[in-house]
Amino acid sequence: MTGPIAFSLNGRPTTLPLDTSPSMSLLDWLRGPARLTGTKEGCAEGDCGACTVVQEEADGGRTPLNACLTLLGQVQGRAIRTVEGLRGPDGGPHPVQTTLAEADGTQCGFCTPGIVMALWAQAREGGDPHEALAGNLCRCTGYRPILDAASHLTDDAVLPPEPPPAERVIVTPTQKFFLPTTVGEALSLHAAHPGAWILAGGTDLNLRVSEHRERPPVIISLRDVEAMHAFESTPEALTIGAALPYHRLLRHLRAEPGFGPFAELLSRLGSRQIRGSGTLGGNLGTASPIGDTLPVLLALNARLTIAAGATDSRSLPIDDFFLGYRQTALIGQELITTITLPRPQPGQFFAAQKLSKRYDQDIATVALASLITVEAGTVTAARLALGGVAATPIRAKEAEEALIGAAWSGESIERAATILSARIAPLSDWRATADYRRLAAGNLLRRAFLTATRPDLALEVMALPAPHAPRFITEAPA
Ligand SMILES: Cc1cc2nc3c(=O)[nH]c(=O)nc-3n(C[C@H](O)[C@H](O)[C@H](O)COP(=O)(O)OP(=O)(O)OC[C@H]3O[C@@H](n4cnc5c(N)ncnc54)[C@H](O)[C@@H]3O)c2cc1C
Ligand code: FES
Ligand code: FES
Repeated sequence: MTGPIAFSLNGRPTTLPLDTSPSMSLLDWLRGPARLTGTKEGCAEGDCGACTVVQEEADGGRTPLNACLTLLGQVQGRAIRTVEGLRGPDGGPHPVQTTLAEADGTQCGFCTPGIVMALWAQAREGGDPHEALAGNLCRCTGYRPILDAASHLTDDAVLPPEPPPAERVIVTPTQKFFLPTTVGEALSLHAAHPGAWILAGGTDLNLRVSEHRERPPVIISLRDVEAMHAFESTPEALTIGAALPYHRLLRHLRAEPGFGPFAELLSRLGSRQIRGSGTLGGNLGTASPIGDTLPVLLALNARLTIAAGATDSRSLPIDDFFLGYRQTALIGQELITTITLPRPQPGQFFAAQKLSKRYDQDIATVALASLITVEAGTVTAARLALGGVAATPIRAKEAEEALIGAAWSGESIERAATILSARIAPLSDWRATADYRRLAAGNLLRRAFLTATRPDLALEVMALPAPHAPRFITEAPA
């Protein structure tokens, strides 16, 4: 039942000494005891990508991860590859490395190993090269040759290695790391260890390790709790496991009618590395006023299933979840197990917009998600939800009331947008002034209307090929 940390590293089964801390970051372990210093430390907070390694999934997928935000306990029983584990068929540089070098994309030694690993994942996963590289910063501004390399990659067809058998409880003299498989087990462990860290992807929580060097005595990981990885689709709704990583959720969402705007928004949450680990449950658990998914959940009138015991659960409307700044309605050891999202129906207009200083890998200055029901030219229902303008994500109820019963017209939207801007009281901070946020929030509603009613205008922007699409949306005044 209990055992050491064991995983596959660069294709080789690796078992760590019994006293290795499961909350040590993978980055610290690689660069320290493992002496694998190809993986670099830049920011230690998930922003720069210098520490990118790849998790080789059993289904052949490749998930880039930030080693600085990944704990050793989280790679238990998994297969990890670092830049030292890439080889060409002749034992020389891997084709991804050769392609990068031939495109003049090899620049400084800090960023290049992480870029190589992001590209190695991209060669298998495909998709927009900008999106693949959004989590790898280069301060010498040499992106063009790197992007050139990214569009000439070929997959090496290497199969994932079989990870060694690994136990579900890691115990050292001072720490315990649990990997339960059922909600009941996770809840019992939580009841037995009330102060334990509940760890989903760790992209929020593990900053306490990487930045503040905290060493939690007990961690309960939700990684293997099957019910929390569900994805069920019906014509009426989606039910999403709270611990399903965003990159898997995004794959599902892209194929779901009605949820396109949510998929587009998710493709801008953090970076591929962050989406490789982060989850909806974690966004809800952190309850930040600028959590990207939270206005969407509010606009779509989500319901959360919250478990308190193996057979004891309740269903909570999202409207009742946020109680105050980073305070939620979770009681005691409760866990969110699933999130149910009603599907936008014909006649409903759904938009999810995030305004940030940079297009990728940035958090919102202001966000607006809207679900507006129009019948015979009249608005019959409206849910407008804002992020970044109050201590919690909020509904703009007075603007909603102004819309309901009004004609679906530019004049009605103008009136609602003016009310929306006037009724919010955002803060000024380094991201934007309060005035900017007020104005921008109203403008997001105006833009949502334009997108719905003048798709020709929206298409002018959206139809541009990806490399030319605007990467910076709007600059907030300094
Ligand atoms: C570089 C970087 C970029 C980021 N960019 C964005 C961004 O663009 N937009 C954005 O919204 N966020 C962003 N984030 C924040 C973070 O990625 C998200 O909030 C993410 O959703 C957190 O999910 P997680 O699974 O990693 O949470 P964790 O860190 O594992 O957990 C966060 C909190 O939620 C609790 N929790 C987790 N699951 C549950 C559950 N099922 N039930 C009850 N409590 C639970 C945990 O106990 C913890 O308190 C970024 C973070 C980093 C480091
Ligand atoms: S060190 Fe910068 S993302 Fe990990
Ligand atoms: S490659 Fe490191 S700063 Fe540009």
